[in-house]
Amino acid sequence: MNNFTYYTPTKVFFGKGVEEQVGPTLRDAGFKKVLIHFGGGSVRKSGLMDKVEKSLQATGIEFVSLGNVAPNPKISLVREGIDLAKREDVDMIVAVGGGSVIDSAKAIGLGLSHGKDPWTMIEEKQQPTKSFPLTAVLTISAAGSEMSHSDVITNSDKQLKRSVNSDLLRPLFAFENPEYTSTVSPYQTACGIVDTMMHTLERYLTPDTDTELIDRLSEAILVSVKNAGRQAIKNPEDYEARATLMWASSLSHNGLTGCGKKATFPAHKIEHDISGLHDEVSHGAGLAVVFPAWARYIYTYDVRKFAQLANRVWKVDMDHDHPERTALEGIESMTRYFAEIGMPTTMQELGIDPSEFEMLAEMTTDGGAHPLPSYVPLGKKEIIEIYRLAEK
Ligand code: NZQ
Ligand code: ZN
Repeated sequence: MNNFTYYTPTKVFFGKGVEEQVGPTLRDAGFKKVLIHFGGGSVRKSGLMDKVEKSLQATGIEFVSLGNVAPNPKISLVREGIDLAKREDVDMIVAVGGGSVIDSAKAIGLGLSHGKDPWTMIEEKQQPTKSFPLTAVLTISAAGSEMSHSDVITNSDKQLKRSVNSDLLRPLFAFENPEYTSTVSPYQTACGIVDTMMHTLERYLTPDTDTELIDRLSEAILVSVKNAGRQAIKNPEDYEARATLMWASSLSHNGLTGCGKKATFPAHKIEHDISGLHDEVSHGAGLAVVFPAWARYIYTYDVRKFAQLANRVWKVDMDHDHPERTALEGIESMTRYFAEIGMPTTMQELGIDPSEFEMLAEMTTDGGAHPLPSYVPLGKKEIIEIYRLAEK
């Protein structure tokens, strides 16, 4: 196991009714005026926003609101948020929504704490040196941004989606009531299932020393998400299934499954350029296509680990004489599972034409200058081969 630092400062309130603790928690922590940030309206329809606003009012915390965060959140709205937060002199941002809303709030916080344009910081890879207090009231199990150190933002003018990672971006508080996720559509639920699995899988499949404990923790998350995912798609109101998915989304991306590992997230980097260029592509749907293709391309470099995954998570019988067959069957089982829950599994289904492969691979590798680290470096040629493995 490699040396590691584990830092998860987010205080999580989990379960039925926790949204009523938003006001008292913020008051006790000394906050006076907040910016409530939200998306396209699901939080008003579900009644969650009403609960959060009432909880703030009851504790004398003032608020201003900014909605309309779109999936694949845009830097243009972030800039509006920074102006509003400055004008209103808020001391905390409360993001009520999913990964897109939380990431937009993180970027607003980045701008407020550094006095700089967050896109410039992200594009120039300037590491944050300060944090701005952030609360996440989570409504969808997926990105894990409620506890993660990442912020992913899209610049529509440049058709680029880029991320920044820093412990300073982890929210102070997260409120997670699984009941509010029962209104998430089957498609978005499936996108969330895939993304949660990926945050664990991209850490699980790395060329590291053996980490038995972390492997077993990761496999527990993956099996639980696989089973709860099926349940939640079949019965959206299944509280236990929704609760499993919600806590798994946080555990998958709060660093736990990366302890002692050096994860490089190649499938995520490849996917971010797809949803950056094609705004209509949801991150989880993009991953459902890219990850199995990456796995088919790479599994021969770590047959033992891919076979272990196939056996323990996808319940494929271990073929000790031909572990590569077990490994490959595991990848096929995973792909069938994604199709079963309604995810695309080919570039064609995502609406990406082969004529775009070259440009996408250029974007991901900065014109070929920066191959992605993985079991072997993935340059333009290799990424195009991965696309071809998922072409149709
Ligand atoms: O905008 P509203 O009306 O709220 O609708 C949203 C949106 O259309 C809807 N939704 C959310 N909660 C709902 C609901 N609909 C009904 N009932 C509810 N309770 O779901 C749609 C998708 O929401 P979004 O926030 O975009 O989903 P998700 O949480 O999957 O976030 C995706 C974004 O997170 C980034 C992705 O790249 C993408 O931009 N990621 C962020 C990460 C991080 N910060 O750590 C890591 C991830 O790997 C990922 O890259
Ligand atoms: Zn992800």
